[in-house]
Amino acid sequence: MANHSRVIGTGGYLPETIRSNDELSQTVDTSDSWIFERTGIKSRRIAGEHEGAASMAEIAARQAIAMAGIEPEDIDAIILATGTPDRVYPSTACLLQFRLGIKQCVAFDVQAACSGSIFALSIADQYIKTGVYRTVLVIGSEVCSRVVDWTDRGTCILFGDGAGAVLLGVSDTPGILSTHIHSDGQYEDLLYLPNPQCALPANVDEPGFINMRGNEVFKVAVNTLGRIVDETLEANNMQKSDIDWLVPHQANIRIIEATAKKLKMSMQQGVVTLQDQGNTSSASVLLALNEAVRDGRIQRGQVVLLEAFGAGFTWGSALIKY
Ligand code: UT7
Repeated sequence: MANHSRVIGTGGYLPETIRSNDELSQTVDTSDSWIFERTGIKSRRIAGEHEGAASMAEIAARQAIAMAGIEPEDIDAIILATGTPDRVYPSTACLLQFRLGIKQCVAFDVQAACSGSIFALSIADQYIKTGVYRTVLVIGSEVCSRVVDWTDRGTCILFGDGAGAVLLGVSDTPGILSTHIHSDGQYEDLLYLPNPQCALPANVDEPGFINMRGNEVFKVAVNTLGRIVDETLEANNMQKSDIDWLVPHQANIRIIEATAKKLKMSMQQGVVTLQDQGNTSSASVLLALNEAVRDGRIQRGQVVLLEAFGAGFTWGSALIKY
């Protein structure tokens, strides 16, 4: 009998501190109405001084473990997506493994910017399908607030902090129907986060803040996500009407609306969290999935399309029978 991966638990964590659009408009030349109309965002969460990618991941992970009704020791692998790790090494996945008290599993990070959790899901799915692992914890955890230039109105309005988790277990029936991941490195200049300590001498003065040509990124994102919808449906021999839920990366409400339109879907079928979370990069899709699972919108047996787009560019989708 074939192995499939199935979602057995989800979790999410958002830091307590809320930073509203009105607060931002006191420090940069912007307004609540501009931000809300152009992005759909009203506020975002900001990690406290004691918090980081690993500590937030732990809270999300423990929720997913509790929902699945397993013990941490049952986990065979932790695959964690982050662009804002506590340390370059050890990986945040290793820090999380220790926090969870797991001695015997493999743990590693994946870096694919905002698409990271889709890439991590795809890797996890391959391991489960091939029978290598039975239970894999996938996490996206980000402290974007520490890599945002709070004087740059083009980026500081968008990003927020948080962690999302999904536990995958092995099953005789799907589960994850397919995953699709892609990269195109020619767009480095449109969206990047410098790493000053390891930068080439020519770039060493670039501060370690997110650098984005938002409008250009926006256009590529809309087109690319439209293409991945087609690719995912075709691979599964499905129609647009077969999709019950869209769980998109939460970058901009206008990007989500374009994807929903492509799917001929009402926005009621799209899970939107960005109004009070902003863009939490690799955490956003898993946070949205967790929210819609826990509030009962997503029901067992329904077909859910997860998708994301981020720096690289990277992009991907996962089609799941929940
Ligand atoms: O998650 C990874 C992928 N990232 C994304 O998908 C982000 C995609 N990009 C976006 O979400 C949007 O491009 C932004 C929200 C960042 C910007 O919205 P936009 O509609 O593309 O605006 P724009 O950059 O074309 O700028 C339009 C105007 C400009 O003024 P002028 O030149 O027309 O006078 C900007 O200077 O809006 C101005 N502007 C602002 N005004 C008030 C830019 N940012 C702001 C701001 N408040 N925060």
